[in-house]
Amino acid sequence: MHDDWWRGAAIYELYVQSFADAGNDGMGDLAGARARLPYLADLGVDAIWFTPWYPSPLADAGYDVADYRDIAPRFGTLAEADALISEAHGHGIKIIIDLVPNHCSDRHAWFQAALKAQPGTPERARFWFRDRPNNWQSRFGGLAWTQVGDGDWYLHIFAPEQPDFNWSNAEVRAEFEDILRFWFDRGVDGIRIDTAGMLTKEPGLPDLDDEHPHPFVDRDDVHDIYRRWRQIADEYGARVLIGEIWLADTARLARYTRPDELHTVFNFPYLSCPWDAARLRAVIDDTLALPAAPTWVLANHDVDREVSRYGRADTSFDLDARDHSQEVDLELGTRRARAAALLTMALPGAVYIYQGEELGLWEVEDIPEDRRQDPIFHRTGGADPGRDGCRVPLPWSGTEPPFGFSAGHEPWLPQPKQWRELTVQAQSGDPASMLTLYRTALRVRRQQLSVAGVLTWLDAPAGVLAFDRADGLRCVANLSDTPVELPAAAEIVLASGPLASDARLPPDSTVWLRLSPQTLA
Ligand code: GLC
Repeated sequence: MHDDWWRGAAIYELYVQSFADAGNDGMGDLAGARARLPYLADLGVDAIWFTPWYPSPLADAGYDVADYRDIAPRFGTLAEADALISEAHGHGIKIIIDLVPNHCSDRHAWFQAALKAQPGTPERARFWFRDRPNNWQSRFGGLAWTQVGDGDWYLHIFAPEQPDFNWSNAEVRAEFEDILRFWFDRGVDGIRIDTAGMLTKEPGLPDLDDEHPHPFVDRDDVHDIYRRWRQIADEYGARVLIGEIWLADTARLARYTRPDELHTVFNFPYLSCPWDAARLRAVIDDTLALPAAPTWVLANHDVDREVSRYGRADTSFDLDARDHSQEVDLELGTRRARAAALLTMALPGAVYIYQGEELGLWEVEDIPEDRRQDPIFHRTGGADPGRDGCRVPLPWSGTEPPFGFSAGHEPWLPQPKQWRELTVQAQSGDPASMLTLYRTALRVRRQQLSVAGVLTWLDAPAGVLAFDRADGLRCVANLSDTPVELPAAAEIVLASGPLASDARLPPDSTVWLRLSPQTLA
């Protein structure tokens, strides 16, 4: 095993409550995930990132953690997590877990103790209690402060049920170092760090204004935490620390992956980029110019699914301005998502796949209001549609909901009837399906593309991205609105859709080619 296995890995984001429900209560669980490990092995992923599986009242879908050293009873037990980790390893699949260090749940023992304690006590010092709020706003809408019975206020950058830890408190730091060891000792191979850029706050908690550095986003002192965590990860060896950091400034982002800090960060500029050749090329060049190991991300549990994004007039994504009012052309979006998948998987580095991406699921925009769960929807009074639409449980089999997700129980979010055509069962063995494309692409990528391989851009018409990998594979992605010529002496390894009758590459398609030796420049 290589210590840096993560550099070129295909990492599958498994959103536990929507993956597979073996307990038949409408929510996915660990038994469901265990039963489907062969599916993931067959898909060809190298690692699974589990979204939070800890006990949680689900005020923010599990990102409100009540106990960092246990498994939610609705998902299973710690013994089952141990079994899952070793079974996954048996399939050659690594396990990455999600750690939420910025805040816990208001049901966490420490916060409960803080509520019972007096103002100014050590119990309160693990959080941010103050006698009056400042002007900070919650990421989920409203003021980032809530008042408790004795008049004190506490800080929550997210929902009121998610009190922020005070990271200048030594107990908080020691606690998380211990939690890291707890999971590394259980055999976990990596940690995805939630909201990794916001842990430390400016002492004194000044009001937010335009003149001063941001009081809690990307402060310099947050890096001390990751230097310490890296030492711990290195003691174990072959473990990866992955930061969730939404920063437009790639130079600032690169600071998190200095050699003694995190191993990688998610590439959100790539995810946010519109379906535009020049813009994508700029993001790819920016990414490859950084010293950090590149990652490529098209989707996750916080963003609109790419089939829908690419089927809109505005194909970009902005976390702070989700827009579900635009028409979606699903056929166009699906064609582009296929082309994007092949483009992404041809790039050097690690690739993330958000569950359901391999099935071509779209953003479900018509979930009835009374079924919506996301605090973003509720706390903005529906002004922001929130993230439920990308979290709808997977369709596995059969012709009607719950599509084999559960044994008949109504899923926690309703599935569209049209997903009968997108079940794993319906797509398996269909050469034209999204699932077959992902399976094939992941196999070819694993067998034929080296991780660190260089990428050489080729001259191409406007709207076309063409590059050679050192491994002898050529990728051509046509984002223009006219077909393009392909080299005659090329063997087609994989195409995202049918070629035109004259063998040209149609718009919104990507092809992987292997050139005969004499064609290679
Ligand atoms: C991260 C998670 C998101 C969660 C938030 C607060 O951005 O990905 O789902 O709501 O942190 O924990």
